Amino acid sequence: MNTKISILGFAGSLRKGSYNRAILRAAAGLVPENAELSIFDLEGIPPFNQDLEKEPPEKVRVFKAKIKAADAILIATPEYNYSIPGVLKNAIDCASRPYEDNAFAHKPVAMMGASTGMIGTARAQYHLRQCFVFLSCFALNHPEVMVSFAHEKIDRDGKVIDSKTVELIKELLASLVDWTLFLKTRGERKHEKV
Ligand code: FNR
Repeated sequence: MNTKISILGFAGSLRKGSYNRAILRAAAGLVPENAELSIFDLEGIPPFNQDLEKEPPEKVRVFKAKIKAADAILIATPEYNYSIPGVLKNAIDCASRPYEDNAFAHKPVAMMGASTGMIGTARAQYHLRQCFVFLSCFALNHPEVMVSFAHEKIDRDGKVIDSKTVELIKELLASLVDWTLFLKTRGERKHEKV
């Protein structure tokens, strides 16, 4: 039996040289021993059409199944025009429907983001947190991983070369695993007979 906490990660950038894909790949190698992280690529998720929400395309079906099977979610978001990219918002919209089959419901979720600007995706991350309210996710509050000037901290091969960033991602993953275990224990207690 697999007792490891399973984390599903995805990035809101389709760019091959994406800094957000790079920090997500780095995260896969920084998970605590009692956890594992698998990465899902959002490439190929079509634009959401509510007419089809009860019969979603195969890519969305797979995405939803993976979210549901995971113990926790990790999102790496770029900041586009002070918000989250359409690719990410569209993927979230697709997986959240139909209303009674929202794949994100009650999932522990953490976020991080990298941008070439000096604010390091802070504005995008706060928009993403707002989505989590409607999605009924259990969002991790700390640490906040906002990687500014990403081009100076991630090299051309997509390796995170800034030790502080590496430590912060490691801390985020450890906190997400603790948060997930805490919520699991609470959930089990709630169903204990007294
Ligand atoms: C950007 N970028 C950007 N950066 C930022 O800090 N704040 C912003 O609002 C924006 N807006 C924005 C809009 C669009 C359409 C693009 C393409 C880019 C720059 C962004 O941080 C940079 O391109 C990152 O490299 C994008 O993330 P990935 O693709 O490297 O993961």
